[in-house]
Amino acid sequence: MTLVASSGLTFCQQLPSGRGKEPFARICSSCHGLEVATGIRRTRDGWASTINNMRARGASGGDEEFTRILGYLADNFGPANSENLKVTDDHVGIRRPQAGIQGTSGGEWRTYGGDLANRRYSPLDQINASNFNQLQLAWRFKTDNFGPRPEYRFESTPLMVGATLYTTAGSRRTVVALDAESGEMLWMHNEHEGARGEEAPRQLSGRGLAYWTDGSEERILYVTPGYRLIALDARTGVPIKTFGNAGVVDLKLNDDQEMDLVHSDIGLQSAPTVAGDTIIIGAAHSSGEVPKSRINVKGYVRGFDVKTGKRLWIFHTIPLREEFGYDTWEGNSAEYTGNTGVWSQISVDENLGMAYLPVELPTGDYYGGYRPGNGLFGESIVAIDLKTGQRRWHYQLVHHGIWDFDIPCAPVLVDITIDGKPVKALAQATKQSILYVFNRVTGEPIWPIVERPAPKGDAPGEWYSPTQPVPTKPPFFGRNGSTTEELIDFTPELRAEALQIMSKYKVGPIFTPPVVSKVDGPLGTLVMGYPNGGANWAGGSYDPETHVFYVFSQGTINNLGLVPPDPGESDMRYVAGTAAVSSDAPRYRGVTVQGLPLLRPPYGHITAIDLDRGEILWQVAHGETPDEVRNSPALKGLDIPRTGRPGIIGVLTTKTLVIAGEAGTFTNTAGKRGALLRAYDKATGKDAGAVYMPMGQTGSPMTYLLKGKQYIVVAVSGQGYPGELLAFTLPD
Ligand code: HEC
Repeated sequence: MTLVASSGLTFCQQLPSGRGKEPFARICSSCHGLEVATGIRRTRDGWASTINNMRARGASGGDEEFTRILGYLADNFGPANSENLKVTDDHVGIRRPQAGIQGTSGGEWRTYGGDLANRRYSPLDQINASNFNQLQLAWRFKTDNFGPRPEYRFESTPLMVGATLYTTAGSRRTVVALDAESGEMLWMHNEHEGARGEEAPRQLSGRGLAYWTDGSEERILYVTPGYRLIALDARTGVPIKTFGNAGVVDLKLNDDQEMDLVHSDIGLQSAPTVAGDTIIIGAAHSSGEVPKSRINVKGYVRGFDVKTGKRLWIFHTIPLREEFGYDTWEGNSAEYTGNTGVWSQISVDENLGMAYLPVELPTGDYYGGYRPGNGLFGESIVAIDLKTGQRRWHYQLVHHGIWDFDIPCAPVLVDITIDGKPVKALAQATKQSILYVFNRVTGEPIWPIVERPAPKGDAPGEWYSPTQPVPTKPPFFGRNGSTTEELIDFTPELRAEALQIMSKYKVGPIFTPPVVSKVDGPLGTLVMGYPNGGANWAGGSYDPETHVFYVFSQGTINNLGLVPPDPGESDMRYVAGTAAVSSDAPRYRGVTVQGLPLLRPPYGHITAIDLDRGEILWQVAHGETPDEVRNSPALKGLDIPRTGRPGIIGVLTTKTLVIAGEAGTFTNTAGKRGALLRAYDKATGKDAGAVYMPMGQTGSPMTYLLKGKQYIVVAVSGQGYPGELLAFTLPD
C-alpha cells in the first residue's frame, strides 16, 4: 500500500464527532490521509493492533491520546458501521499527491529531488547529531550484474514509495524495485537496445526515474540510453500496454526535426519529471569539447500524457523562424545549430502551473564562431506553462556561452521572505559558482543582476557578447575565473613555482574568454571550475523552515585552450585542446605544481546561504585531505588543515542536519581506504558525525521512514568499485 499526506480539513469536517476525533485527526494524519483508516472497518482488537503498528512506525502521542483514538475508531469504524464507508469509497488506499509544493511527506521520497521543487529536504529527525556516528548498514545492493559489464559511475537518487525503493542501475540502465526495509529485489526490467544503445551519447544507469499514481494505478517512468521513454507497472515492472507502443514512446520521433533513429546524437541521463498527468522530457547530447560538427540535433523539451504517452506539447529551445528569440541567432545559425538541451532536472510549481527549464549552451562548448549572437535560449532559465509548453518568462544567465557553463542542475523552488513579504522564488546554482535568485512568478531577479562589460577575446571568427549578467547578491559560493590570489600558498616555494606556471596562461576574472593555444604561450585560459564546475548536476538543497540553501562546489583549475581540430575530426574551426609541446603530449592537461593542485584549498566545500538576506551563513571544506596532498614530499612537516576533495556531490537536508558523502577515497589513520558519509549541524556547519563507506559518493543521498525507522540511502562507486547502494539506519 502506498500513502501520502491527507488533503486535510475538508475531509476532517465530515468525521463523526466524539472525544477521540481531535487526536485522531491530528496524530493519524501526519503520515497519510485519515481515509486510510476511515475507509475500513475493524473490531476493537483490530484497531488496537493497527494503532500499535502505527506507533511502531512513528505515530507519536501520549498513551491517553491513543486510548481515545482507539475508542473513537472502535465506536465509529467498527464492523457495524458499514454505511459510513460510502463517504470515502473512492479515497481508500493509494492517494494522489496534492498539487503544488508539498515536500517529502509521510516519510517517503517520491521524486528525484524529494519533491518537484527539487529541495532535497526531508523533515525526518530520528537520525541526528546525537546518533549519526552509530549508523549501521541496514542493507547494501550491488549492481555489478545489471548489464553486460559493471558500471563504475552510479549517480542515482532512488525513490521510496510505500515500502518500495526504485532505482536505475548498471551499465544497461536496468530499473529495479527493492524492498526498502531489507534491500531484497522485487523485480527488474531492462531493455536491450543493440547499436542504438551502444552508440548513445548518454549511457550507463543515469540519475534515476519517476513515479506516478492516479490513486489506483502506479507507474514507473524512465528514459533508456537509446532515448526511449518507458512506462512500467510499479508493482510488477511489466510495461504498460496502453502507453505509447506497448509501453514505449520513441523519443527520436515526433520531435519537430528529422533524426537518424540509431546514430543521432541525442539521449538523456536524468530522471523524467512527472507533474500531475504530464511527463516532461529534456535532451542531452555528447559532450561538446570536440564536436564533430557545427550542425547537430536540437535538444527540444516535450510534454507527454502519462496515461497514453501521447505528445502534449513541445518547447523549441532554439526558436523556429516565426518564434520569439529567433533573431538572437545571427546569420541563419538557428537553422543548423543544435544541442541547447535540458539535460538536467526540471522543477515544477503545480500551483502556478509552471515548469522551470535549465537550458544548456548550443553546439560547441568553447567555440561559438558559427553561432553569432546571444543565442536564446542557450544558458537560460525558461519558465513554461505546464499545460501548453508556452514560454512564460526567461532569463539568460550567460550570453553566447563559450565556457560550457550549461545550467547543470535543477532550479530549486524556494518560498522566501524579502523585506518582510513572502516571495515565491527560484534559486539556480551553477558551474560558475554563482547562485541566481529570481521571483518565479515573474522572472524578476530578487537582487539586482547587472550587465557588466565582458572582456573581448581574439579567437579568429569568434563572436563575443559585450556584456554578461552578474548578480549583486548573494556572494559567489565558490571561485571562478582565475587570479593569483587563488594560487597554492602552502610554502613560498610552491607559490613562486605556481606563479611561474601561471605566467604561461591567460588569466582573468569570470567570462575571460578561451584563447587559441600556442606552444610559446599563452597555452590557454586558466579557468576555475572548468570543465565540471563549481556546482554540477547534483545541485543544491533547501530548508523550507529556515530558508537556507545548501550547495557543494569544488575548487579546481584547468587550462581552457583552443586548437584547430585534427584532420577529419570536426568541421569546427577550433576545438578544445592545448598546443602539443610534443606529439604524444595529452591534449587536456590539468595544471599542477609538483603534483599538487595549482589552486589553494578548499578543493571541495559546502556553503549555506540565507536566502531571505542573500548572505553566506557558513562554509566548510567537505572531504578529508586527499592522500596525494597529505603524502606530498613538498609538504613534509607542514600541518595541512582539512582541504576537502573535488567531485560532484549532492547534499541532503533534514530537520537538523546537512548530509553528504565525500568524493573519492582517502586512507584513514587505520590504513584503510574509504570515504565518509558526513553530517553537519545545518545551523552552524559544525561536524555532527560521520560513518565509513567503502567508496566515495557518486549519487545523491536520500532518506525515508519505514516501520518507524529512518534510513539514508546513497549510491557509491569509483575506479575498480562497481555501483552499490548503501542503506544506513540506527541499531535497534
Ligand atoms: C509515522 C507515520 C504514520 C502515522 C503517524 C500513522 N500511520 Fe498509519 N500507516 C503508516 C504507513 C507507512 C502505512 C503503510 C503501511 C503498509 O504499507 O503496510 C500506514 C498504514 C495504515 C493503515 C493501512 C494498513 C492497515 O493496517 O490496514 C491504516 C488503517 C493506518 N495506517 C491507520 C493509522 C491510524 C489509525 C493512525 C493514528 C493512530 C495512523 N495510521 C498513523 C504510517 C503512519
